[in-house]
Amino acid sequence: MSGFDAPHCGSLRADDAAREVDLYGWVARRRDHGGLIFIDLRDRWGPVQVVFNPAEAPEAHAAASELRAEYVVHVRGCVQRRPAGSENPALGTGEVEVMAGALEVLSPSRTPPIPVDDEREAEETARLKYRYLDLRRPRMQRILEIRHRVNKITHTYFDENEFIEVETPILTKSTPEGARDFLVPSRLHQGKFYALPQSPQQLKQLLMVAGIGRYYQIARCLRDEDLRADRAAEFTQLDVEMSFCEEEDVFRLLEGWLSRLWAEILGVEIPIPWPRLTMKEALLRYGTDKPDLRFELEIADLGEALAGTQAQVFRAALDSGGVVRGLAVPGGRDMKRRELDELVIMARGAGGKGLAWLPGGPLDKFLSEGEVEAIRRATGAGPDDLVLVAADRRRRAEKVMGLVRSEIGRRRGLVREGEWRFLWIYPMQLFEEDDDGNLTYGHHPFTRPIEDDLPLIDERPYDVRAHAYDIVCNGYELASGSLRIYDRDLQERVFEILGLDRETILARFGHLLEAFEYGVPPHGGIAPGLDRIVMLLAGTDNIRDVIAFPKTQSMVDLMMDAPSPVDPGQLEELGIQLKPQRNKS
Ligand code: AMO
Ligand code: AMP
Repeated sequence: MSGFDAPHCGSLRADDAAREVDLYGWVARRRDHGGLIFIDLRDRWGPVQVVFNPAEAPEAHAAASELRAEYVVHVRGCVQRRPAGSENPALGTGEVEVMAGALEVLSPSRTPPIPVDDEREAEETARLKYRYLDLRRPRMQRILEIRHRVNKITHTYFDENEFIEVETPILTKSTPEGARDFLVPSRLHQGKFYALPQSPQQLKQLLMVAGIGRYYQIARCLRDEDLRADRAAEFTQLDVEMSFCEEEDVFRLLEGWLSRLWAEILGVEIPIPWPRLTMKEALLRYGTDKPDLRFELEIADLGEALAGTQAQVFRAALDSGGVVRGLAVPGGRDMKRRELDELVIMARGAGGKGLAWLPGGPLDKFLSEGEVEAIRRATGAGPDDLVLVAADRRRRAEKVMGLVRSEIGRRRGLVREGEWRFLWIYPMQLFEEDDDGNLTYGHHPFTRPIEDDLPLIDERPYDVRAHAYDIVCNGYELASGSLRIYDRDLQERVFEILGLDRETILARFGHLLEAFEYGVPPHGGIAPGLDRIVMLLAGTDNIRDVIAFPKTQSMVDLMMDAPSPVDPGQLEELGIQLKPQRNKS
């Protein structure tokens, strides 16, 4: 008999009482109470209690005494209400139990190497190696369901708005999103390589040239970059592109989509429209392009307060074009020296020169009373507050203060859990300085500059703003997008400013530039990171929790054991010869 249409273990309720059922599932727990044996039988819908009574079903009872955790069984029995007083309100099925008549073991299980429940969490490498067991846990099943519902609501929403999903290739050509490409060697064209898509950026723009008008795709993206808690090498974007649009259209569409996800999945109403913060303001006030607004702490510029300072550290920073930034920690005068030393270490770890504090800090003796007063005023510090100060090159001071701000927010319990603070970062700058001080793009090279700023593009490129925006929520960058350049000359100009020579431009982007000569609609789009959105909805800060089969931080699939060596014959076909290995692992 097929168990496919059988009732789900976790779905039985009081009004199923007296029903004869066939149940299929995993043994989550077995308790032997002298005469009676109880098992929790679990499937994706949850557990239900099954009772084996030797007086009523001696054969089933005898078989049940052999059951072990994670056996797959088929139970035939009768649903009944639990005896008064033994209900379990914590369970959906807590009002009922199933009195077993027959038991069939479909598949035994060895003792699982990791616990298959939510009470105990194994170490992550074990969870990843035995991912199929880890995914059996109710928490992980719930996350996979959330992810499915996000996809489903997304398809509905974008379909309602007349977008169509178009699939784009996985074997494609390098498109710069700022990460290293994964390359795939070509067998038929030896010595040549496909790149796996870092995103479908150029293809979605070409779909606009193709007249699709409104495109979306739940798209896999691959980037060979350093992984972090919210960064995977293989991740999923909701890729969106639309023609004849302004940023306001993108904002409205995305606000509608995300607020619907929050309403349908969490039952939470997200007020729209969301506040907007310019990139400059975000970096100044919060020290990051993805501020967490669930706590107030704001960073202040102390340039004015210290304009005439003789304190060497500050003077040097200001004179060399750097900045001094400060932050008042409410009630922070109670901070211990050890805590402050830890913050200094953190600041230095982030490349900063250091961190000072006042009153009572290392630089107090160099500051005049008037300067101290001006600092307190600029940071809004009250009598019990401590002011933390960093002097450095702008980017570094911002980074340090941003880290300090989140650390203070976390340590001092300032973060209001349960709040959802969505915002737009807009506009952003067209160009940024990379870590080596070189000019690079802010979002990507296809981003359209704001027309009014175009005259600055050669002389003061860093002052050019872009039609570019991010969605940020609770300290996460959830999405990034922009209006695009649709003029060949301007696109070439931007490539040149980014330091690409003509040959490279044509070799890498010739197809796009050529397409721009055949009637291009003005267009723009955005790409939310679905993994991060599911992270927020599921309440986890580990991206691997929301990916069914993730890789470790060092990009290893522990379950399948990938990457792995290949047959010499395969390499031969590809015309590839391996060098002696650098790092044997
Ligand atoms: P961007 O590179 O900013 O833009 O990526 C957009 C969003 O994708 C998510 N994301 C990631 N999530 C998990 N792991 C990663 N390694 C990772 N990298 C990015 C983030 C990010 O905000 N083509 C452009 C979009 C556009 O212009 O339309 C792009 O890919 O949530
Ligand atoms: P040092 O002389 O480098 O050991 O620094 C003495 C103190 O001043 C330490 O507490 C440093 O963290 C702090 N400090 C040094 N440089 C800076 C800076 N650029 N901004 C803020 N504090 C600094």
